[in-house]
Amino acid sequence: MTNRDSETPFSARRDRVAGRWGLTDEIVLVRSGPVLPMAGSDMDHSFQPHPDFAYLSGRGIPDAVLAFDSRQTKWQIFGPRSTPEDQVWHQPADPVGLPLDELEGWIALRSDQNVIEAWDDPKIQSGIADERVHKDDWELSSLRTAALTSQSGFDWVYQNVSAGMTEREIQVGMEAEFFRAGAVRTAYPSIVAAGPNGAYLHYFYGQDDSLNPSTRTLQEGELLLIDAGGEFGGYASDVTRTMVVGAEPTDVQSFLWHLVLSAQELAIDRCRPGQEWREVHLDSARIIGSGLIELGLLRGEVDQLVSSGAVALFYPHGLGHLIGLTVHDAGGYPAGREPSSHPQSRYLRTDRVLEAGMITSVEPGVYFIEALLKDPAVRERFAEEVIWEAVDPLRGFGGIRIEDDIHITDDEPEVLSGDIGKPIRIG
Ligand code: GLY
Ligand code: MN
Ligand code: MN
Repeated sequence: MTNRDSETPFSARRDRVAGRWGLTDEIVLVRSGPVLPMAGSDMDHSFQPHPDFAYLSGRGIPDAVLAFDSRQTKWQIFGPRSTPEDQVWHQPADPVGLPLDELEGWIALRSDQNVIEAWDDPKIQSGIADERVHKDDWELSSLRTAALTSQSGFDWVYQNVSAGMTEREIQVGMEAEFFRAGAVRTAYPSIVAAGPNGAYLHYFYGQDDSLNPSTRTLQEGELLLIDAGGEFGGYASDVTRTMVVGAEPTDVQSFLWHLVLSAQELAIDRCRPGQEWREVHLDSARIIGSGLIELGLLRGEVDQLVSSGAVALFYPHGLGHLIGLTVHDAGGYPAGREPSSHPQSRYLRTDRVLEAGMITSVEPGVYFIEALLKDPAVRERFAEEVIWEAVDPLRGFGGIRIEDDIHITDDEPEVLSGDIGKPIRIG
């Protein structure tokens, strides 16, 4: 479509996707999506292109359309044009492809062909997802750079955080380093959770009330769980580290931290082609479950504790998910696989056999989640399996998660975030 295309992977991606679609007589429209207005305001949210559009075009402009004529095997991009009035307020939009107002005429010339909107067609979407799961060199380069931006932020944390700081101070200091290192934005809202807040899997600072955000101060000896990453070139990085701040870890902190780390290391070593991810996940739950038995929090046989959901009380989420243009990337469930209702797997975001070129997070954890542990129905249901008198004193402990981003190769797994330290204690 443009000269730039000959040096970039986008044309090859479009060819591969068209091959997967196998269409002969249709038109497909892949839209970048609109700018979304903020409620009650004349401002807009910052624009994020639909990742399928970004993947196929390499562009991130709003209201653009990538059109595919399957009869001619021809792609055409249409983009908006800035008016002089637009340019009073904003720099001119890059005039990509044909002007958007020519799209209607382009379709009219093909009025005997069916028009498929990619967003509405699961088969078309899965054709794109099946390509997106295998990262090309261009993508790997962005993913590696994204991980480097995260490394700068975590290094700042290791060097600067101490008891007495607020979650907000830590977030701001860390994110500034992501951006200084080249991140365009964070890949998702940063999770900076002190003490008990680490038990909320997706704790976001000021999530529900940005007018009255938490100003929680980190206490000496508390756990600090940070799940954050920079985004570069549209690609995410997704890293979690958990540390005790300002004191030697207690025996329980140390036991659980090393338990999570060993579950993570064993799972990373299995990030190889041919591995069934659901099995790697369930094995990580068995490791966590065995540790909880050893610590005296669970009793019974570990397979039974995994099947009953007793381990899931402390490790409710999945071992990991695909990463790419979105932090929870496309293709987690290929055609023919449905999310499971198994208590240990219902939040598993990926259920497929690993293949070279995929990027997955590996992020086991252990949490003391008040909403689960205080629920009378849960306490009764797990009366035999959970040793409540040992668990109850740990309510308020928070959570421990350790997360890295792994590139599956035909050789050893490449840990994209592997240069980010894993200290058990800082400050
Ligand atoms: N950062 C979100 C997640 O780990 O899934
Ligand atoms: Mn993750
Ligand atoms: Mn994460």
